[in-house]
Amino acid sequence: MKAVKITDKVYWVGAIDWNIRDFHGYSTKQGTTYNAFLILSEKPTLIDTVKKEFYPEMMARIQSVIDPKKIKIIISNHSEMDHSGALPETVAAIQPEEVYCSDMGHIDLTEQLYPNFDMKVVKTGDRIDVGGDTVSFVEARMLHWPDSMFSYLEKENILFTNDVFGMHYATGKLFDDENNEIDWLYEAEKYYANIVLPYSDIVLRFLDSVKKMGLSPKIIAPDHGFIWRKDPAKIIDLYAKWAAQAPNNKAVVVYDTMWGSTQKMAEYVADGLREGGTEVKLMSMHSCHRSDVVTELLDSSALVIGSPVLNSEIFPAMADVLCYLKGLKKKNLVGAAFGSYGWNPAPIKSLEEKLKAMKVEQVAPTVTSKFVPNADTLEACRQMGLTISQKIAEKLK
Ligand code: FEO
Repeated sequence: MKAVKITDKVYWVGAIDWNIRDFHGYSTKQGTTYNAFLILSEKPTLIDTVKKEFYPEMMARIQSVIDPKKIKIIISNHSEMDHSGALPETVAAIQPEEVYCSDMGHIDLTEQLYPNFDMKVVKTGDRIDVGGDTVSFVEARMLHWPDSMFSYLEKENILFTNDVFGMHYATGKLFDDENNEIDWLYEAEKYYANIVLPYSDIVLRFLDSVKKMGLSPKIIAPDHGFIWRKDPAKIIDLYAKWAAQAPNNKAVVVYDTMWGSTQKMAEYVADGLREGGTEVKLMSMHSCHRSDVVTELLDSSALVIGSPVLNSEIFPAMADVLCYLKGLKKKNLVGAAFGSYGWNPAPIKSLEEKLKAMKVEQVAPTVTSKFVPNADTLEACRQMGLTISQKIAEKLK
């Protein structure tokens, strides 16, 4: 296993997880990478490590360019275990002189790894000499954990950004200019929607403060996916767009169905939206993953939810996706609810509370159907779609 050269002084020494398909509830259809970086300065420095089981791969890549024991400094930009799981074994093997992390990183690494080595805390503005170059630090709290931190290699003008600006995308082509946008854009959107979305206000403030610091990195090196060397501004601009959550003429209808009645209602809601001129994504929880639902919701202005009733509750798959969406806090949504029942409509009415809890403005009355929807009910569903479409149009004015 070989390291990949980024510049004469900096190498990628991470690992590629080609076959991971579930990242704590996020469907990673294209696998991922765990990126670690080696700075070949006078005091060789390792930035982040990898998931525990990929330790041998990372060490083999390091070994391809330097004796690992020559590494003097390790920096932990992020304590989540896909980047720190291999840290204790790495420290034990390398015996570095210093291990640096943020103050929250110190707490989080301690509580996850119970390390038997010392860690030095750095904060925004601190700089360390790595011999021939300097690494400065910018804390990035809640992007996306309290400990998150960026490290900036000053002379090389490389910003190491932990999870931020990354994506779950396994590729042997480790640079932006080697990958096709058509292949990676959905994965970048999906990463933002599933990991960063709840912290969008912090993203906007952070992008602004980085601009004020005058940082204009030549290369952005995140901990997942590929490295931005041709056009680092591309991913910064995408983050600014996604974080703004501006209105867009698109709606997501998410539903589950038992005997096809709620599905029929969903199709009429979708047809009303289409008739109103709104792009619509109709997503059945029989066939779609929660992490793809939130990805489609990222650039949408409406969330319409439908469920049948089972044992006096909404369908379990709907409870799952609504719980997931609530945590991800998509803003600026209008919506409505619908569903079919046999003898107890209360669970469908309870969807209104779910919308409220997600801060989705309900703009059309809930439509319920006792068993199979008749023509009037289907027309009410179509009208629901039209009404939502009109509300989106008002927001776009
Ligand atoms: Fe890739 Fe938050 O860890």
